[in-house]
Amino acid sequence: MGIQFKNVKYNYKNMNHSYNALEKVFLSIKSKGEFIGICGETGSGKSTLVQLMNGLLEPTEGKSIIFNTEIPFKNKKMVNKIRQKVGLVFQFPEYQLFEETVLKDIMFGPTNLKINEKKAMDLAKKSAKAVGIGEKLLNKSPFKISGGEMRRVAIAGVLAMTPEILILDEPTRGLDPEGQNTLMKVINDIHLSENKTIIVISHDIDLLAKYAKRIIVMKNGKISYDGRKEDLFQNKEFNNFSLEYPTSLKIMRFLNKKINTPFKDVYDIDSLFNHLIEVSK
Ligand SMILES: Nc1ncnc2c1ncn2[C@@H]1O[C@H](COP(=O)(O)OP(=O)(O)OP(=O)(O)O)[C@@H](O)[C@H]1O
Ligand SMILES: [Mg+2]
Repeated sequence: MGIQFKNVKYNYKNMNHSYNALEKVFLSIKSKGEFIGICGETGSGKSTLVQLMNGLLEPTEGKSIIFNTEIPFKNKKMVNKIRQKVGLVFQFPEYQLFEETVLKDIMFGPTNLKINEKKAMDLAKKSAKAVGIGEKLLNKSPFKISGGEMRRVAIAGVLAMTPEILILDEPTRGLDPEGQNTLMKVINDIHLSENKTIIVISHDIDLLAKYAKRIIVMKNGKISYDGRKEDLFQNKEFNNFSLEYPTSLKIMRFLNKKINTPFKDVYDIDSLFNHLIEVSK
């Protein structure tokens, strides 16, 4: 198993107050082949959950087991080794770019892992290619490229550390619709080409419905749904999840009700169009 949580609780303790951000979390995530979307209201614990997944945070109670090893938080070296296997791309990762060139920035992670320069450069170039950053951009300053490109460079930086699982915290936030789609396609290609487990936090239910196979819904620091996407949107409790239905499904239901169009579960607009063409033949 890639990631396992057993009754995990996380409590933020500051000087004069403590806050239970997560409680009673049980989770199992396979090391290969999953595409998981995490959604839920703001403050529901999504970012806290993924920081626990890559060992950045230590559970206040319960166990976090990564690749069958309970994270030994006292052993920094081991923790770093485990963290390398679960790559986490933070929200607005472009704020963390700092090197002179795009290439150097992407090489930073592998170099830090004591990988030799030649190999680090190969990994960086391979990751840049995987996220659609062309050779021409590699020698530019990371501050002189577009916002969407910056974000892809930041993702390449995490990919270059060859994590087995890749987690992205709101990767599409703040990008225009085209940039969002391009980025989700890039992420999906990484998933498909290596069968890599991908975990994406997003408030955009259309994007999650299109790409995720499994969806986790967070509410008040607890998991309120964890299962197949198909089952989420047919769930009788759906109204309790504070979510919207995907646009494609809303239109499908409308057409079905108003003009008797044969119903099909469709999770993106292209599938809806294809279905409509099919039934109109
Ligand atoms: N460093 C911190 N100290 C104290 N409380 C915190 C800290 N970080 C987060 N919290 C609290 O923990 C709860 C969960 O935060 P978290 O960032 O995990 O939510 P989220 O679901 O990612 O929200 P968003 O959708 O806004 O990103 C929130 O109520 C938040 O205020
Ligand atoms: Mg968050």
